[in-house]
Amino acid sequence: MNFDVIVIGAGAAGLLCAATTGSRKRKTLLIDHAKRPGKKILISGGGRSNFTNYYIEPEKYLCENPHFCKSALSQYTQWDFIALVEQYKIKYHEKSLGQLFCDDSAKEIVAMLVSECEKNDVTFAYQTDISEVKAREQGGYSVTTDKHTYTCTSLIIASGGLSMPKLGASPFAYKVAKQFGLEVLPTSAGLVPFTLPPELKTPLAEVSGVSIPVEVSTPNKSFVEDMLITHRGLSGPSILQISSYWHPGEEVFINLYPGDDFGAFLNESISTQPNVSLKNLLATKFAKRFAETFIDLHKFENVPIKQLSHKEQARLVDLVHNWNIRPDGTEGYRTAEVTLGGVNTDHLSSKTMEVKSHPNLYFIGEAVDVTGWLGGYNFQWAWSSGYVAGMNA
Ligand code: FDA
Repeated sequence: MNFDVIVIGAGAAGLLCAATTGSRKRKTLLIDHAKRPGKKILISGGGRSNFTNYYIEPEKYLCENPHFCKSALSQYTQWDFIALVEQYKIKYHEKSLGQLFCDDSAKEIVAMLVSECEKNDVTFAYQTDISEVKAREQGGYSVTTDKHTYTCTSLIIASGGLSMPKLGASPFAYKVAKQFGLEVLPTSAGLVPFTLPPELKTPLAEVSGVSIPVEVSTPNKSFVEDMLITHRGLSGPSILQISSYWHPGEEVFINLYPGDDFGAFLNESISTQPNVSLKNLLATKFAKRFAETFIDLHKFENVPIKQLSHKEQARLVDLVHNWNIRPDGTEGYRTAEVTLGGVNTDHLSSKTMEVKSHPNLYFIGEAVDVTGWLGGYNFQWAWSSGYVAGMNA
């Protein structure tokens, strides 16, 4: 069976790409090994999908080549995707920091993308296992599956990264890239919770569920957002964000009192309420359970604050503003929202996502070494890279 375009992977990037090639009257086949399309879209944003962000900027993406994402993001912007969402009368709202979510359900986004594909006569092949992809001597590509061997002029790989294998993630894109001689940059889990060594994990597990607004930093990046203590370690938006910039073995610095001066607060408290206990003082700023654990963890005596020596005061202020933690790892691909690394963008045209050395072969979405921040940035990359490939394949 011959098609103009075959897209492998009916996730975010593949669906938008197939709808786009279809709209150009390119006879398109969309293949996926899963039963249904868009599984990650369905569970994203707690089932409401954070489908884009008002403030899409290239600086909010990680890539060996920081300029690479600019072209696709400017050819198909957040406003283009929002216009599509509005055309389908899907109600949405901004949660915070420009993050846009469906009012009702992520199912609406998948239904919209499937409808765009159907409208443009895209053929779907779900539950289809691919055994081989080849360049044909006469030009174009062939894709051998457990059902048929398909041929096409243009082949688009949109099979994503390694995060959440239980949702169908596979290294397929990397294997195809290597087969065609492309470098795949080392991959790791991104937007992922930290695990902690036992001496921290055990006491903090006692206060799991506590969320604190913090500034969390690595040597080259910082984020001010909430941190959530879990029974396995640390999570919440600030931790997920910094995890993409963290390297194994590094410390992270947590400022529990961002944008304010804890030293000044302590001094003032010592003069205005000298007999208050240290735990009770901290409990005015943090959850009581956390205040107690923090004091015990760092071996402070729970004395009236007037009895704190200057040395202990300085140590407390330093810990509150600069709590150094060395995670012992991350929860890995099992819970990671994204995969860092992937197909080296040096091999791709940033305008079209086409492989420079292999005409009519494209890589899009998370398979490529472009990873966004938390907050709708990754879906926008999927839409933008899918669109530009779709306009050129
Ligand atoms: P995606 O993973 O969506 O699709 C790949 C497709 O390829 C899948 O359908 C898969 O079945 C198929 N496939 C894989 N291997 C194959 C093979 N060998 N043969 C055939 N098919 C194969 N981002 C965001 O911007 N906002 C958000 O709210 C969230 N929330 C979120 C929650 C959770 C829990 C996760 C795991 C991730 C997010 N993300 C997110 C990230 C976002 O889901 C991700 O960046 C995009 O889905 C990537 O789109 P792709 O199309 O590249 O891959």
